[in-house]
Amino acid sequence: MPARPELTGSTELVEVDLSPAGSFFDARSWTDVKAVRQGIEEIAGRGYISHLSASMLRSAPRRPDAEEPATIQVGLRLLTKNGESIDAPRSGVVARVEPNGPVVVKHTDGAAHAGVSTYFTCWHGLVSELVVGEGLAEGDLLGVVDDEEDPALGSSVLLQVFVDEEHVASPPPQWAAANSLANWAEATLDPAPLLGIPARDRALSSEEVVSLRDRRLARSQRAYYKSPPKLVRGRGAWLYDDYARGYLDAINNVSHVGHAEPRVTAAATGQLSKLNTNSRFIYEGIATYAERLVASLPAPLEVVFLVCTGSEANDLALRISRQVTGRSDIVVIDGAYHGNTTAVMDVSPNRYKGPGGRGAPATTHEVMRPDVYRGPYGREDPSAGEKYGAEVANVVHSLVDKGCPPAAFIAESLMGTAGNVVFPPGYLQTAFQAARRAGAICISDEVQVGVGRLGSHFWGFEVQGVVPDIVTMGKPVGNGHPLAAVVTTREIADAFDDGVKYFNTFGGNPVSCAIGTAVLDIVQEDKLQQRAAEVGEYFLRSLEKLKTRHQIIGDVRGQGLYLGIEFVRDRETKEPAAAEALEIAEAMMLNGVIVYPTGVYENVLKLKPPMVFGRDDVDFFVSALDSVLGTRSNRLTVDVEV
Ligand SMILES: Cc1ncc(COP(=O)(O)O)c(C=O)c1O
Repeated sequence: MPARPELTGSTELVEVDLSPAGSFFDARSWTDVKAVRQGIEEIAGRGYISHLSASMLRSAPRRPDAEEPATIQVGLRLLTKNGESIDAPRSGVVARVEPNGPVVVKHTDGAAHAGVSTYFTCWHGLVSELVVGEGLAEGDLLGVVDDEEDPALGSSVLLQVFVDEEHVASPPPQWAAANSLANWAEATLDPAPLLGIPARDRALSSEEVVSLRDRRLARSQRAYYKSPPKLVRGRGAWLYDDYARGYLDAINNVSHVGHAEPRVTAAATGQLSKLNTNSRFIYEGIATYAERLVASLPAPLEVVFLVCTGSEANDLALRISRQVTGRSDIVVIDGAYHGNTTAVMDVSPNRYKGPGGRGAPATTHEVMRPDVYRGPYGREDPSAGEKYGAEVANVVHSLVDKGCPPAAFIAESLMGTAGNVVFPPGYLQTAFQAARRAGAICISDEVQVGVGRLGSHFWGFEVQGVVPDIVTMGKPVGNGHPLAAVVTTREIADAFDDGVKYFNTFGGNPVSCAIGTAVLDIVQEDKLQQRAAEVGEYFLRSLEKLKTRHQIIGDVRGQGLYLGIEFVRDRETKEPAAAEALEIAEAMMLNGVIVYPTGVYENVLKLKPPMVFGRDDVDFFVSALDSVLGTRSNRLTVDVEV
């Protein structure tokens, strides 16, 4: 009787973790069948895939309810070879054998398994000469592997263990959807102990993470979604949860060149394995990275401070402005957000006027948001830019008249958190002119929109034809690694050096600089700025078409891959549809798209995906939104009828 000690004898078996949280796909893609097969063959005949584990090989976009992709393997899969023999791990009686069907064995007299003394083992992928009713002793031949080879996995045998006979009455499914996982967890037992394999450590569920997070993180650190997916992997413009359900990421401008970009990973790990230290030491990366940043900017922006966050960059920009001008007052745009430190919160109307906000400090002066959708000067007005700019001039003049001229005018180049406010042409020119005439420093906050995102230009301020005195950058420059920067003129930088040392422990460390350089290389090599222009244009046109079909869309706007969809209850009154925007975002997540509302009225879906976003991603997004909005209006009709 041929035996398979390596299968029943356990210790030589190694887990092949194809789940999104496993490491199998860290260095190879799940779509590269050849590479997966090669990886599997390296552990030829000794591998197994755990019971109820999700497989990236079956990952598919999340879909609502019954359409959910079946990504979870019901049973333990032994990766083996056709023609190998499989023996019974326990004694039992053959309950079913059918051609092309599983071999099912009822076990009653063996040792209890997981505390259950009667159970059924169900073996898929075998040919067997056994007959129903035949008794089997432990080690008896069950059958020979004769699996239709999977192109990635090769041949395998799937072992399932059920408690109730009803589950084996007809061939049980080999794959289940995440929303039926609880049922299958109850109906099955983990086969691992039968093969002497230790039980797998269970990772925290999404609900458990939320609960632990709620206990251990401050409540003010809000999370997205009522029932958030637990994200464990990303690649390109897609994110994957622990069930291998995919979500198109339409919101992460931080992952500028794509999630888990291999060249960024290589740059980070390569440098981390050599040296990481602070910027008072001399190493090449900080100098060459600063040079690269400067090369991307117009003159006279030529002196770099490397910091860790956008908030820190803006904080430093304010400090420089105040110190260099000897003034305190700052002019900001209503609705703006510039970060989370005390100083930048004080110039962020989005926060100090928002829930819990304590209002503007005496040194902060707001100017009207140049919003051509809601403001007094609309898109159709060719001089809207100058008119909104004149509002800046008015505020600046009144400050001069009061004897407190501003130290700085700070503006994003396209307002993100305020609700995707695209400046009309001429706005920043007029505003900068007024600020400079009063001796103020002009700060461009490029934390959201810089590094090619707007398509036509590398930096957002260039779209408006201006050159700031200080530019701050963050989010995309490190592709998720905490890297940010302040770049200014030689004159301002020298005036800031009054003897007080500036030191930043982590800012511009060798690892950060290696990552920052890789990001700039990738943007250039992969022509991501051009891609943002082309795909962004297609995205905008697709959304405009969608607007003609759904009344709730009041406005679509933006540039490159920085777009916004504003929802209103009534196109005439423009009453913000904030609750609806949140509901739409929740429904989009259930349809496999990550997007979230923002804006002064929280009614604008912000679209700022990784720059690798393609036309097919646009189509996926638009089709999901079309379906979500269609479902909403159907439901509203029903509600009204009821
Ligand atoms: C325009 C703008 N500036 C600054 C910041 C702050 O950046 P960070 O969160 O990296 O501190 C943000 C963050 O969202 C931002 O949107």
